[in-house]
Amino acid sequence: MLTNTATRYGAAARFFHWSIALLILADLALGLIGENTPRTAETADRLQTLYSVHKTIGVTVLGLAVMRILWAFTQTKPVPVHPERKAETMLAEVIHWMLYGAILIMPLSGWVMHSAEAGFAPILWPFGQDLPFVPKSEDVAHMAGAVHGLSAWVIFVTVALHILGALKHAVIEKDGVLSRMLRGTEAGVEGASHASALPPALAAMLWIAVVAFPFVVPLEQHEEVASAAPMEQAEITSELPVWEVEQGGLTITVTQMGAPVEGSFANWTAAIAYNDESGTGEVTVTIDTTSLSLGSVTQQAQGPEFFDTETYATATFTGEITRLEGTAHEAVGTLTLVGQTVPVTLAFDLTLDGDRATMSGTTALDRRDFGMGAGYEDEGTVGFGVAVATELTAVRQ
Ligand code: HEM
Ligand code: HEM
Repeated sequence: MLTNTATRYGAAARFFHWSIALLILADLALGLIGENTPRTAETADRLQTLYSVHKTIGVTVLGLAVMRILWAFTQTKPVPVHPERKAETMLAEVIHWMLYGAILIMPLSGWVMHSAEAGFAPILWPFGQDLPFVPKSEDVAHMAGAVHGLSAWVIFVTVALHILGALKHAVIEKDGVLSRMLRGTEAGVEGASHASALPPALAAMLWIAVVAFPFVVPLEQHEEVASAAPMEQAEITSELPVWEVEQGGLTITVTQMGAPVEGSFANWTAAIAYNDESGTGEVTVTIDTTSLSLGSVTQQAQGPEFFDTETYATATFTGEITRLEGTAHEAVGTLTLVGQTVPVTLAFDLTLDGDRATMSGTTALDRRDFGMGAGYEDEGTVGFGVAVATELTAVRQ
């Protein structure tokens, strides 16, 4: 029989229980393996497959969970088998409600994280990569990730208690509770009452606390960014008029698994001397490489194979500015990055409005010139080209 009665689970409830249980356990295992795999060139492809499978299984769980919950609304809930044991029945039911919450919150938080971050491991079907109402935002991805990680611990504890309980019934008490879920046999006495409305209310409160926790307790990464020390500007000894940067942005775009991933440096300065009559000048840009964020691959990008920010915390570009024609300029110089100094030309447009200059420029780098990502020999995982773009406004001093 498909439907439940007061003393047994129907085939539909059992199908939902076991399919979701299996997929959740598989995803917990994949998540843990992924978390404990070092991020290196050798593991990159394996991790990409692992997370793609993890996400696809997770989204499948969400679909099944929605159907399961809708189905459960139409069904009788089988009675507790030992209603006289009030505390035990209460605990079992709180755990059931916690697990119901888990099968929604776990995949939803994962999906929001995936949709908010750029790059890395697509879900293995074309739709659903981006969710409506979820912006591409590191903060959103970070918060969703925190909820995901914390919820994983809640599931570990509740599933462990749930399985221990089931084993206790099967091995010690041999009371038919497990086979009621396994084979759909009968157990319990019709008319026995459930443990009131307290369990769902308790489970809901616990979940609200778990989801709210990362929003209430300040997270490490936020503090780090907020406390980034202002950079010291390079000395300009030029006779030319000096310009001070008011505001600006410095972004890089890399190609990861064939898709563009944009990142930016939060902390950098530029010392600029420029004579607008001759159209000549010089510029020194100092970049705090530890302030790089690059979607979900920030850690790898900052790691020893790429920017190696622990050893090389700054990168410097120095160049001579020449006006080409009209607003078109170029700065020809060198970029020193991860200990390598490479000739680089930055092409930019400069427009002046009184004492305020607006500049936007681009250049293309090849990571191999700096020995970056030597382990990624072809472009399958990480492309060779890195597009750099900058925009700023500066004021004549
Ligand atoms: C059944 C649902 C799911 C379970 C049980 C689950 C479980 C886990 C676990 C245990 C981890 C490792 C803990 C951690 O890194 O904090 C993890 C990480 C992760 N999960 Fe899930 N997950 C589920 C669904 C999803 C879905 C649907 C997505 C995306 C569409 C997703 C994306 C991720 C990502 C990107 C990570 C890595 C997070 C990081 O390293 O910062 N998960 N998951
Ligand atoms: C080896 C693993 C598992 C075993 C042996 C197991 C066993 C059981 C048993 C025997 C019941 C019936 C309890 C009763 O009749 O009162 C049950 C119910 C339930 N189980 Fe599991 N379970 C397992 C994994 C999971 C997992 C991973 C979840 C996570 C979602 C889960 C969620 C539930 C829920 C929500 C119920 C309440 C019944 C319903 O409304 O569908 N179980 N489980």
